[in-house]
Amino acid sequence: MNPFDFHLPTKIKIAVGSFNETVNYMAEITQGKKVFIVTDPGIERIGFVNQLVDDLVKGDFSPYIFNKVQPNPRDIDCIQGGLEAKSFEADVIIALGGGSVIDAAKAIAILQTSGGIPQDYAGRNNVPKDVTPIIAIPTTAGTGAEVTRSSVITDTTKRIKLTIKDVKIAPTLAIIDPELTYALPAPLTASTGMDALVHAIEAYTCKLSNPIADGLALQAMKYIYPNLRRAFENGHDKEAREQLMIGSTIAGMAFSHADVASVHCMAEAIGGLYDTPHGIANSMFLPYIIEFNAHSSIEKHANIARAIGISTLVQSDEEATMALVDEMKKLASDLSIPSFSSLPEVNPNDFDYLAESSYQNGSTPSNAREISKNDYLQLFHKAYKSTVFR
Ligand SMILES: [Fe+2]
Repeated sequence: MNPFDFHLPTKIKIAVGSFNETVNYMAEITQGKKVFIVTDPGIERIGFVNQLVDDLVKGDFSPYIFNKVQPNPRDIDCIQGGLEAKSFEADVIIALGGGSVIDAAKAIAILQTSGGIPQDYAGRNNVPKDVTPIIAIPTTAGTGAEVTRSSVITDTTKRIKLTIKDVKIAPTLAIIDPELTYALPAPLTASTGMDALVHAIEAYTCKLSNPIADGLALQAMKYIYPNLRRAFENGHDKEAREQLMIGSTIAGMAFSHADVASVHCMAEAIGGLYDTPHGIANSMFLPYIIEFNAHSSIEKHANIARAIGISTLVQSDEEATMALVDEMKKLASDLSIPSFSSLPEVNPNDFDYLAESSYQNGSTPSNAREISKNDYLQLFHKAYKSTVFR
């Protein structure tokens, strides 16, 4: 067994309606009154931001709204947010939104306290000092960013994604309220839910897996997989919404203590170049990476198939793993995830660049099977030829 550390830096509150109690949790985090809210225009339109601001004002806090986060959060927006948070002298940052908002809030917290640009802190453990405390309130289920120590930001100059990994940026408190996902549109339910499932699968199969993360990852899959189609088909299915949200948070805990792997490396490459939504990008490559990795950890892949109930002990490990590949293709299709080749911006002439970008990703060494740039190139072509998805 590989030696490993396990440090849970985030306090978690999980309850339907817990968002309404946010102000009551503030004293656990700060004695200050200046609250910097990081969010996006979509969350503002739903009314969540107004509700939070009203509650904060009633609680005698001074809120400040920064709503410029976009999907695949951009370095330039984080720099702007860092400057505004510094000038406001924020005591605490509340990230209210999906994974992009929470990742941007982590970068803003660093820039408020240490200055510079996100690129200065890319890689592992490069954040020099403690950051402004973060309260993460996810509105998707989801990236699990509310409990992770990583932030993925788009470098708009190089059109690649950079990752900052440091326990200092893990939120101090995560308020998990499934009610916030009840109105999430079906396509977002599908893409964010698939991201969560990929987190669990990659945490379990990657080279940095460990026994505690393995247990969390398998538990996360059991919560996520059976509820994805349910929540997609009926957004008002409260039980499915709750289970998905709990599963995505558990998956976040799992991969934060292990890693993601080559599915994310490919997804982040096309996210950086084409701005493809992260969960959709993950779904496109998942079956092909499972096939590629299968024989490096056939027992673990078979365990996944058995854990989520698509295979039995009667089947061999090979049969169970192939059932997993087929089911991941079918799941993506049932969730109306588009195929890689159906994206109009995808150009095979970019595949060499995308393969290099995937290979350079910091999670490539964590993949279950050693993978080369040429392997990535073949996998991009394989996914492009597929017509399995819509
Ligand atoms: Fe992800």
